[in-house]
Amino acid sequence: MAVRESVEIDLGRVDRLIEEQEAELEPKHRASIAYRKVAERHVAGGVASSWQASPPHAIFIERGDGSHIWDIDGNEYVDYHLGYGAMVVGHAHPAIVEAIERQARNGTHFAQPTKHLDVIGENLAERFSLPLWRFCNSGTEATLEAARLMRAKTGRDLLIKIEGTYHGHHDSLMFSVIPDPELMGPRDHPVTVPQAPGIPQAFADLVVVVPFNDLAAARQAFEEHPGEVAGMIVEPAMMNCGVILPEPGYLQGLADLCHEFGAYLAFDEVKTGVTLAAGGAVEAFGVVPDIVCLAKAIGGGTPCGAIGATEELFRLVVDGEYDMAGTFNGNPLTMAAMRATLTEVLTKDAYGTLNHVDGYLKERLSAVIERYRLPAYVTGIGAKGSVIYSTTPVREYRDSLGIDERITYLAWLFQQNGGVFKSPWSKQETWTLSVRHTDEDAQRYVDNLEAFARAVTA
Ligand SMILES: Cc1ncc(COP(=O)(O)O)c(C=O)c1O
Repeated sequence: MAVRESVEIDLGRVDRLIEEQEAELEPKHRASIAYRKVAERHVAGGVASSWQASPPHAIFIERGDGSHIWDIDGNEYVDYHLGYGAMVVGHAHPAIVEAIERQARNGTHFAQPTKHLDVIGENLAERFSLPLWRFCNSGTEATLEAARLMRAKTGRDLLIKIEGTYHGHHDSLMFSVIPDPELMGPRDHPVTVPQAPGIPQAFADLVVVVPFNDLAAARQAFEEHPGEVAGMIVEPAMMNCGVILPEPGYLQGLADLCHEFGAYLAFDEVKTGVTLAAGGAVEAFGVVPDIVCLAKAIGGGTPCGAIGATEELFRLVVDGEYDMAGTFNGNPLTMAAMRATLTEVLTKDAYGTLNHVDGYLKERLSAVIERYRLPAYVTGIGAKGSVIYSTTPVREYRDSLGIDERITYLAWLFQQNGGVFKSPWSKQETWTLSVRHTDEDAQRYVDNLEAFARAVTA
């Protein structure tokens, strides 16, 4: 990305605009704000998951159709949140609805295998170049199994993870997700910072944190812990600081490094899988790891997760030494939706549509940034992208710390007031496109960015 001249954003003006935009937003959500108070009586915080309570207030959703959603106040939005990236099929896609209805009529749960398995297994094996698969119910479960499988196979305890990535809510990996700069330590030896209270220090002692896009740092971590590292887990394109793409050679370098030290490499493709390309990051970057973790978009909007791995790693499971189990693993409703998603909706052709809208959006957003000389750039691939409010490329988590959150919050408010639903605000969140998004939907995003640009540079 070429560094170019940009305007300096007046943060005093940003503060004033935030007040204006919040004042415009609040009356639109009277029903959401009132309903939350009712729910609060017996539901902690009045929401089902903590991030649903992101500022300025929780927005309750009534329904969705294609690329659009409607909240309980009746506001209509183009949805770029897409349930944290799960709804790449779009809302209420007829093929998914039909698959779920058909399965529901035949029973919703048996905790026994069903005849969806061969089709789904073969489809995933082809997309991700890994021969064996198992199923679970969330991205958290998929990365939990990956961490444990690498430890089980090697008999080693240490894991290496990237600073600034999220792998779900379990205690093996919930470290240094958005570490406080005061606590994160020096870049050459980042501190493993628990992301939540209640995670024992003993777990932190088992995780080494390194920066993204830095092979030398990863090598140093292996060399400082000879014979102790079971494996490394990496989100092949980081999705929590806007989109950060891997530099050429980085992912293959990690795979080689892990193998040199007798360890395994896991890709957390919970967000990148079937979104960057049909075969996720494996296809987009041409690197096959030992393990791929999937969730979100593979399930067409049902709670889902999957883990793919080599025959060597899955041998433990096949031989019954390692039980990868769960009551709802392979639940027929999920499997029916997943099968329709993979075989009928997110087919190879669908990526042509996604890439077209992605190109339309990126080109026009870049033109707005250029015209108003915003200190920002556009990045992403396939269904995932973001505007990053920095004039220099963000290559890793620490690079993103210089971005002022007031600017990204204001950009979010302009989108929300302009009828674009983005993930609850933060500079970390990307947009997700569905196969139902159109150029017209993309134009709304562009127009809102232009309104924001006009206001901050006026
Ligand atoms: C990269 C990544 N891994 C794992 C997870 C956890 O997935 P889930 O919320 O389905 O447990 C997430 C969730 O956002 C994620 O972004």
